[in-house]
Amino acid sequence: MITFALPKGRLAEKSAELLQKCGVDTAVLAEDTRKLVLESGGGQYRFFLVKPADVPVYVEAGVADLGIAGKDTLIEEGRELYEVLDLKMGACSLCIAGYPARKDVLTNAHLRVATKYVNTAKQVFAERGEEIEIIPLHGSIELAPVTGLADVILDVVQTGSTLKANGLVVLEEVFTGITARLVANKVSFKTKAAEILPLIAGLREVLV
Ligand code: PRP
Repeated sequence: MITFALPKGRLAEKSAELLQKCGVDTAVLAEDTRKLVLESGGGQYRFFLVKPADVPVYVEAGVADLGIAGKDTLIEEGRELYEVLDLKMGACSLCIAGYPARKDVLTNAHLRVATKYVNTAKQVFAERGEEIEIIPLHGSIELAPVTGLADVILDVVQTGSTLKANGLVVLEEVFTGITARLVANKVSFKTKAAEILPLIAGLREVLV
């Protein structure tokens, strides 16, 4: 049996489609259910449905063998796992964003940065030698500069429509090429190689 930690939300449908294309029966994931553990293939596959940021936690701990997580989450979590394949979906950038008329805001002595990516923000601004105040939020990050809670945000930008709808712009791109990745537990990668390697090969073929 291979156990997957799959992200709920934005990447859910595409993840299921991709796995289905390479022979993993994911029909069960389309069911309207509150169950968080689902199985298919007569017990060959098991799926945990988790918050995107929690995928690396399940995979590092080994309760899931494989997972699908955004590179943004992997950077933020810094977990001990193997990143085995770029799934080339959900492409976005991690950006500093704020009001267009206040581009000089980044030189503020005491910059207030709202973000879901607290560890990444610490690292990014430390490398720039800037001391900042981090305002940790869990969602609707764009609301922070709009309401005056923060000067800027560090967040992912995909289509840019959330920024635009709220009168904000990208001030700086910090990481580009953020896509979903297949990740593997380090032990499972060895002990379940017979099941995992063909699956990776199948995914590679589908992605070409
Ligand atoms: C993410 C991110 C931005 C938005 C960017 O939030 O935090 O708010 O998507 O996407 P866009 O550039 O296509 O508009 P998400 O939709 O995951 O929800 P959240 O606000 O609950 O974090």
